[in-house]
Amino acid sequence: MMYQHELSALAKSNRMRTRKIYDEALMDFSSNDYLGLAQNETLFQRTVTQVSMYKTHAPKASIVVNGYHPIHQEFEEFLARNNGFEAGMVCGSGFLANFSLIEALPRKKDLLILDEEYHASGMVAAKTVDAHVLLFAHNDANHLEHLINTHSYNRIIIAVEGIYSMSGDLLNREIFEVANRYNALLIVDEAHSVGVLGDNLRGVFDLFNIIPEANHIKMGTLGKALGSYGAYILCSNHIAEFLQNRAKAMIYTTAPSLFDIALGYQGFLYLMRHKTKLKAEIEKRQSLVLQHLDIRMEGLICAYPWRREGMLCRCKMRLCTKVF
Ligand SMILES: Cc1ncc(COP(=O)(O)O)c(C=O)c1O
Repeated sequence: MMYQHELSALAKSNRMRTRKIYDEALMDFSSNDYLGLAQNETLFQRTVTQVSMYKTHAPKASIVVNGYHPIHQEFEEFLARNNGFEAGMVCGSGFLANFSLIEALPRKKDLLILDEEYHASGMVAAKTVDAHVLLFAHNDANHLEHLINTHSYNRIIIAVEGIYSMSGDLLNREIFEVANRYNALLIVDEAHSVGVLGDNLRGVFDLFNIIPEANHIKMGTLGKALGSYGAYILCSNHIAEFLQNRAKAMIYTTAPSLFDIALGYQGFLYLMRHKTKLKAEIEKRQSLVLQHLDIRMEGLICAYPWRREGMLCRCKMRLCTKVF
């Protein structure tokens, strides 16, 4: 039993993970299906119809070999147009999208600075780079700027989240200003903010009314509010070209599933059609949490403090807003 020592330590500290099939009748406070789209039959049927129009239903190869499909292209163009970016690129998952960005963009002599609460996908990727890697205090624009001013660099790459998955906090807007002041590339992981924040539910760029510039990179997942699986990166044409040639997690992997991308596309169209109703439902849930738990939620995820065996734990609570 080669890993018994480590597994026993996990069990002892109550951190053992399990895989369970949950009863669908239970009320769900643990998944990221924020808008209930994973159960929307109409979107599923529309996706079946769309994918059925093509001779092949699987990508078969890497996106830079011959796995690129009209379903990918149409969705990328839609996303870029709708979010004000020059280019869009689909990825297999949010983990792969973050890994692609953070493994490829920081080169030797560059400075990579991540928020200390950045998602594990970015933290793992940061271990693979030649650049100087630093963490800044969570959401602290002053600390970020201090790190920039006290280190030498060729390029600067900053990585932050729109709504933090660990704490539920909203991104500090001043970080955009710091990034722009130093012409740093700013990666904004919008996994938990797309579909939840902003006038058009497009996330923090939308909420803060920020028009994307050449140094901005937005990454989003389809596995959360969009009720599918997969991810995308929005950026300038220049960055897209670089990623296409250097991001190993995009090059050396099969192109994303056609069905999942088409389903995510349907999710976005749904968001556009129903944004007023959805925004009202999101606000309703946030005010219920405020009223009953005294927690002001910025999005639909929060870290809820509770006691387990005398220890103060943080339990992540997600609210699903099923309105159809
Ligand atoms: C902030 C954040 N980024 C990225 C990911 C990874 O996304 P995916 O589940 O699509 O791989 C997650 C998922 O847990 C996340 O919470």
